[in-house]
Amino acid sequence: MASGDLSAFVLGPTGMVGKKLVSELLHSPRFSKVTTIHRRAFKDDEKADFPKTNSKLVEKIVDFDKLEEHREYFRGHDVGFCCLGTTRADAGSAENFVKIDHDYVLKSAQLYHAETEPGKPSHFVLLTSAGSNKCSYFLYPRTKGLLEFNCANLGFDRLTILRPGLLDIGQDRRPSSRPLEHLGHMVYTNLLTETMRKTLGISTGNVAAAMRKVAEDWIASKHSPTVVQIYENNDLHELLSKI
Ligand SMILES: NC(=O)c1ccc[n+]([C@@H]2O[C@H](COP(=O)([O-])OP(=O)(O)OC[C@H]3O[C@@H](n4cnc5c(N)ncnc54)[C@H](OP(=O)(O)O)[C@@H]3O)[C@@H](O)[C@H]2O)c1
Repeated sequence: MASGDLSAFVLGPTGMVGKKLVSELLHSPRFSKVTTIHRRAFKDDEKADFPKTNSKLVEKIVDFDKLEEHREYFRGHDVGFCCLGTTRADAGSAENFVKIDHDYVLKSAQLYHAETEPGKPSHFVLLTSAGSNKCSYFLYPRTKGLLEFNCANLGFDRLTILRPGLLDIGQDRRPSSRPLEHLGHMVYTNLLTETMRKTLGISTGNVAAAMRKVAEDWIASKHSPTVVQIYENNDLHELLSKI
């Protein structure tokens, strides 16, 4: 694949990681088309880091309960990225959390897989979380673990899973209040040494850079045969030290 020929779609592009990832891809000379698939339009501040003029971005607003009706948006991509996710509190119930965090993402992954033309390599880059485990007693890690497991069974040529620890959002502000995350962030920023911070977490910008890099690296490796590649938090820091 020649430089500047890659096409990607991004789920969750309006989130803390998602908007940084879209910016990474729009600035990357390797990508010529970036389709964002979301439930609402970008706000101006979410596009602050995007290039001022760009012809790469294609925004698609969808109803996630009717993804089948939008299947053409998942067609023709070299890579699909997922930064979509919520919390139980924002979702309102455990059932709704699973619907958003697991069902919407799995359905999108299925559509991408189904819409990829035979012979074209497919790569799904999935952001989950440290501690993901489909056998966990707890809802959050169990849902993430189940999503990883089900995506691994779809038959992608490559599935890359990133499992960051605490996301350091820096100076960003979340639209919804998350008291526990806020407390964790205060401790993380003010009480921990840099080494401890690197062990426990990673910045949203670095996660986005790692997502772009794993996609570009897999193409550069001429589609290495390893199917499932998992990056834990420390692996992400190691990967980024090579940029
Ligand atoms: N926070 C952490 O410390 C942490 C740590 C490890 C992993 N993670 C995981 O990393 C991923 C990204 O995290 P983040 O902090 O960047 O997330 P975020 O800022 O909350 O963004 C989540 C994205 O998902 C979308 N979304 C949420 N609910 C939706 C719904 N009902 N329908 C359609 N789209 C919906 C949001 O759209 P709107 O903008 O329209 O809401 C947004 O684009 C998540 O899967 C999260 O679980 C987070």
